[in-house]
Amino acid sequence: MRLVSNRFVSALVLALVALVAVSAGAQNPGGSADGKKLKNPVASSPESIKAGAALYGKYCKFCHGADAKGNGPMAPKDTHPPDLTDAKWDHGSTDGEIFMVIKEGVGPKFDMKGLKSKMTDKEIWNVVNYLHSLQAK
Ligand code: HEC
Repeated sequence: MRLVSNRFVSALVLALVALVAVSAGAQNPGGSADGKKLKNPVASSPESIKAGAALYGKYCKFCHGADAKGNGPMAPKDTHPPDLTDAKWDHGSTDGEIFMVIKEGVGPKFDMKGLKSKMTDKEIWNVVNYLHSLQAK
């Protein structure tokens, strides 16, 4: 009897943890457990970084700035696209977390919209590799 109820309790706790993880992920896809688990399938080669740089110029530059320092001239009023070259990541710094931010955007306001309707996963990984190539050494 004791064993059964213990098992029930741990199943309940597990379900709760999963629920919290899921709802946190929905609000803030970056920094999520899901993002942390993702492995970058695209090796950071010069080709990937070059492709990422071109995509960055097309989809990100006008908000995050030509040098990715967060000073994009055309960022919508009252939004503050962050510096993507510093060591500070509000929404997680792993490849997978950055991937999730680009793919799903940053809720709840979505000043940073997800780009999944415009970019393929592979293109997003190329941009992740490009961003990492900009990190101050
Ligand atoms: C419409 C303007 C806009 C565009 C376009 C845009 N971003 Fe953003 N981005 C933002 C804003 C604003 C934030 C801050 C969101 C927040 O913290 O709520 C942000 C946040 C981020 C973050 C999280 C940084 C951190 O500190 O965790 C990353 C990474 C990022 N953007 C990458 C990109 C990439 C890559 C592209 C192009 C594929 C892109 N963004 C396109 C406005 C934009």
